[in-house]
Amino acid sequence: MLAGKRILLIIGGGIAAYKALDLIRRLRDAGAGVTPVLTRAATEFVTPLSASALAGEKVYQDLFDLTDEAEMGHIELSRAADLIVVAPATADLMAKMAQGHADDLASTLLMATDKRVLIAPAMNVRMWEHPATRRNLATLQGDGILTVGPDEGPMACGEFGYGRMAEVPAIVAAARAASRQAAAVPIRGRVTRYIRSVAAAAARARSGRGGSRRPAPAPSIRRR
Ligand SMILES: Cc1cc2nc3c(=O)[nH]c(=O)nc-3n(C[C@H](O)[C@H](O)[C@H](O)COP(=O)(O)O)c2cc1C
Repeated sequence: MLAGKRILLIIGGGIAAYKALDLIRRLRDAGAGVTPVLTRAATEFVTPLSASALAGEKVYQDLFDLTDEAEMGHIELSRAADLIVVAPATADLMAKMAQGHADDLASTLLMATDKRVLIAPAMNVRMWEHPATRRNLATLQGDGILTVGPDEGPMACGEFGYGRMAEVPAIVAAARAASRQAAAVPIRGRVTRYIRSVAAAAARARSGRGGSRRPAPAPSIRRR
């Protein structure tokens, strides 16, 4: 069900960014409202004007745009969405997400959100197979980030293999499936409970009443 949903579409700086323009149309055809966010590199591949015209909405690009902060700050922007889709998710964006960077609008929105995030990776096959990308993918999946693609096939660079962004209908289908799943991620509550349990165990240990030398188990923050 995408009808009536608000999707924050983060467009990364890859050659597949042009497909994100079609994705905007298809998501809107499915009844969703789309708020596009372009990274600086994405603007080398598609224009904010095209994204804005297709979305019928303002495009967001700059974290430090004071007008945007006055109208709708970056926290509200990420919270107003029902789902965040990153397409194309470049190797660089995946690395930033996996590391928790927040040095531009896109990465800050991804850090500030408590909503489901779906990424459509797209990159050269060597970048996709690089151990760093494999590590980042595993981290992101462990964090509950949903993925669609990439597909196998000929690439813009002339090579062949995995790395082509999933086709637009597949991304729309994945977005539909993701939006059906429970939205909120109770990470914060679980971590708070974990911190409290660790604090309680430490207090018991200090008082000599039932303290345990074994560390408390790490909280499970995997999204279901
Ligand atoms: C012509 C060209 C095509 C590129 N295509 C891709 C791509 O498909 N995937 C990718 O991960 N990086 C690609 N890059 C490299 C990214 O543009 C670069 O890593 C950039 O910093 C990513 O920015 P982002 O984090 O805003 O996505 C490409 C670079 C150039 C010059």
